[in-house]
Amino acid sequence: MKRTTDISLAAGHLKSGGLVAFATETVYGLGADATNDTAVAAIYQAKGRPQFNPLIVHVATFEAAQKLGIFNQVAQKLAQAFWPGPLTLVVPRMPDCPVSLLATAGLDSLAIRVPAHKQAHALLEQFDGPVVAPSANPSGTVSPTSIEHVITGLEGKIDMVLDGGDCAVGVESTIVSCLDETATILRHGGLARANIEATLGVTVADGQIDSNNPTAPGQLKSHYAPRAKLRLNVVRPEKHEAFLEFGPCDTDPDLNLSPKGDLIEAAANLFRMLHKLDAQGVEQIAVAPIPNYGLGEAINDRLRRAATSRETG
Ligand code: TXA
Ligand code: MG
Repeated sequence: MKRTTDISLAAGHLKSGGLVAFATETVYGLGADATNDTAVAAIYQAKGRPQFNPLIVHVATFEAAQKLGIFNQVAQKLAQAFWPGPLTLVVPRMPDCPVSLLATAGLDSLAIRVPAHKQAHALLEQFDGPVVAPSANPSGTVSPTSIEHVITGLEGKIDMVLDGGDCAVGVESTIVSCLDETATILRHGGLARANIEATLGVTVADGQIDSNNPTAPGQLKSHYAPRAKLRLNVVRPEKHEAFLEFGPCDTDPDLNLSPKGDLIEAAANLFRMLHKLDAQGVEQIAVAPIPNYGLGEAINDRLRRAATSRETG
């Protein structure tokens, strides 16, 4: 892993689809071009995560954030009070938002933040676009707050780390959902509840970040499910089904997640293709078997959730 302080080198690597770990004031993030599906898939691969969690989008300014998401009054107040800083806001995606659907795991919302760390800010300015970055640690380990943590965890898995010293805050950002006019704290972190409540002038409740339960009124919908019904591990689709293939095939699929059988490519295409079939108005999608190793595990996890959340409404 190359260790550098050269911001243009790091920005260039991101532009060419590479991964760069970089410091923020909270923890080190593992960055990729948010608009590049394949680069985003490589993040999940490097972290070895068996699930596609939606990622946080990092931008240099509030103005840049407003081009990607829709900020209601509550979101605007919080952004103006605490950005740049250790706060992530969940807002609806703009209709033409260029952020990869894999990065948001197919959701129509977006978690977005403007970090305060000077070097992170410079990187985002130079890159001149949105950067997705989960914490730069292998799945199941604690978030890294020094460059040594990043190197220990991800050596051999990523090409580059931008040396930004130790992280001053040392815990992840506080995540606040602003999908309606009531703010909800989804994750406690570097910004205290009291500060948020003082700014909004109301008490703020805790919400659930990742609920598998059917959504209660007002509750965050945390998993994307296509409108169409999904049938999984299908070798021979029925006539009325759209066929989502994987790997070389002699049938005539409607779409193929990866004709060459590459799981990174399949992950990169997954949510985009499901959305596309939905937009075509198909009633049922038959999905070919996906091998259950590497990113295949995360793909199968999402497909299973999408199939069952459709069944439960
Ligand atoms: O401080 C931080 O927030 C660090 C630095 C690098 O910015 N990032 C970080 O990312 O902690 P990560 O991926 O480890 O955690 C992101 C959390 C996940 O739990 C994910 O479920 C949630 O944010 N999240 C992302 N998008 C969401 C959305 N649209 N709705 C609800 N939750 C979302
Ligand atoms: Mg994390």
